[in-house]
Amino acid sequence: MNSPSEYALPHIQKLHGYTPGFQPTGEGWIKINTNESPYPPSPAVAEAVCQAANESLRLYPNAKAIPLREEAAKLHGLKPEQVIFGNGSDDLLNLLVRSFANEKSVSYLMPSYSLYPVLCGIQDSGTVEVPFDRSMSLPFDALADLDANILFITSPNAPTGVGFSNEDLSRVIGSFDGIVVVDEAYADFANENAVELLGKFKNLVVTRTFSKSYGLAGIRLGYAMANEEIIDVLDRVRDSYNVNRLTQAGGLAALRDQSYLKAVVEKLKRTRDFYRAEWEDLGWFCYPSAANFLFVEPKNAKGEAGREVAESLFEFFKANKILIRYFPSSPLTDTFLRISVGDEDQMLHVSETIQKWLKNG
Ligand SMILES: Cc1ncc(COP(=O)(O)O)c(C=O)c1O
Repeated sequence: MNSPSEYALPHIQKLHGYTPGFQPTGEGWIKINTNESPYPPSPAVAEAVCQAANESLRLYPNAKAIPLREEAAKLHGLKPEQVIFGNGSDDLLNLLVRSFANEKSVSYLMPSYSLYPVLCGIQDSGTVEVPFDRSMSLPFDALADLDANILFITSPNAPTGVGFSNEDLSRVIGSFDGIVVVDEAYADFANENAVELLGKFKNLVVTRTFSKSYGLAGIRLGYAMANEEIIDVLDRVRDSYNVNRLTQAGGLAALRDQSYLKAVVEKLKRTRDFYRAEWEDLGWFCYPSAANFLFVEPKNAKGEAGREVAESLFEFFKANKILIRYFPSSPLTDTFLRISVGDEDQMLHVSETIQKWLKNG
């Protein structure tokens, strides 16, 4: 008999799964490596989840999460038929690849969210990776020549934080013969978002998450907005009960508390902009961020940037129990560090740790 894993499909045998950000055990860590919120969710969420934790848990949840679709549709000025919810926005990205990856390829920009290639690997689809250059603005020429069935654009992008204007996105969506997904996991921290483009482009999908601005990474909830026909396709592929009862209750409470969301987002944006300015004062290059993280190229005390410098600061942070993210696999990212915006105390600690590292030489 073969070893059991040899019965897996050949492409799955070769697959490297997604690597989630490190989750430390033990006390005392400052965890700013996965862009979670440092602030708790709206108090209305816990209340709604506790209320929903009753005898009705023996029943399946609302299969299409209709109350959530209605609330999100109201929030964005859409029809409920234009919205679908999932077990995190990853669930929606997965549904999109499963539904639209065909013999033409799946395309995404590099660097961007590292889940896309994994989803393509699971589906055994072809991929076209379109590289950014150091400007990190959309490479229009390469995108204009693209032959793919579905294209993922992360905006604001991760790990850079750079957001793309609706004018730039329209240029790409209007000329692309296929589905364009604008992954807006960080859009609440940006000045512009692509939802208004849904009225103009039938081939556009916009995805959102509760994991960042809403402070609800733990309940796993996200949604996609698109033309009704696209939502119908995704509904056919979706697991019947992909959003559990407690998550539906908590998510609805979070959506209804927009003033809490706005207050958290404003606080994080202020902190983000303060630290970007502080690091620029050190002479460090930092992309303008429209997200809840900063992508910064540190310099050592001698004023040198580079791979060794970024690695050295990454390790120094770790030794001081601060977890951030380092992306060594590309020359576009290997001199940078991505730091999620924490609360004021956490960021003060980050700042003091940088000063210590600089003094150490
Ligand atoms: C660009 C992007 N899209 C989607 C996600 C995943 O969101 P969710 O937690 O809703 O699955 C992330 C998480 O880091 C992300 O960075």
